[in-house]
Amino acid sequence: MPNRKHHRRLVLSPERINQRVSELAAELEASLDDSEPVFLGILKGSFIFLSDLVRAMNRRVQVDFIRLASYGTSTNSSGSITMHKPPEMDLKDRIVVVVEDIVDTGLTLRWLVDHLADYHPRRVLLCSLIDKPERREAPVEIDFVGFRIPDGFLVGYGLDYNEQYRELPGVYTLEFDEGSS
Ligand code: IMP
Ligand code: MG
Repeated sequence: MPNRKHHRRLVLSPERINQRVSELAAELEASLDDSEPVFLGILKGSFIFLSDLVRAMNRRVQVDFIRLASYGTSTNSSGSITMHKPPEMDLKDRIVVVVEDIVDTGLTLRWLVDHLADYHPRRVLLCSLIDKPERREAPVEIDFVGFRIPDGFLVGYGLDYNEQYRELPGVYTLEFDEGSS
């Protein structure tokens, strides 16, 4: 999809994100047992959130990544999803904390939860920095949500628009200019 003309508006400052990530880490700790969980990041969008989240945890954790691809436009996912990089660890009998950047239609996470069952984890917990519940098409229970944001296309803190803006320390909404293509 070609880049449309746009500008950015700040919606989550780095300070606000940092505060909420600490709270999420505490919420997660409270619902884990003594076993070492696997934090399973979904590439690429979750890489910054995951690295802040594991550093906010007061316990030993392990980290793995998967890469999913969904065929759609740069601002909309579609239902057809494939796993481009499977987990490298053995997830059997492990507690798996799936770390996602943003849940929009829910199609990606719904697909993943169904497919993770093949790896026979003991328990799967879902953690997403951002949830856009109003856009949901597939039912999915997210156990830990950083922020609920109704709508808009978001970038920064790992989130991209055509691979741009992942490096921004805050989260911004993109406002597309009228008539641009
Ligand atoms: P879903 O399958 O519609 O829930 O979409 C999930 C994926 O789409 C996320 O993992 C993101 O990679 C991408 N996505 C959805 N909304 C946004 C957004 O506002 N900004 C950037 N990426 C998004
Ligand atoms: Mg993603």
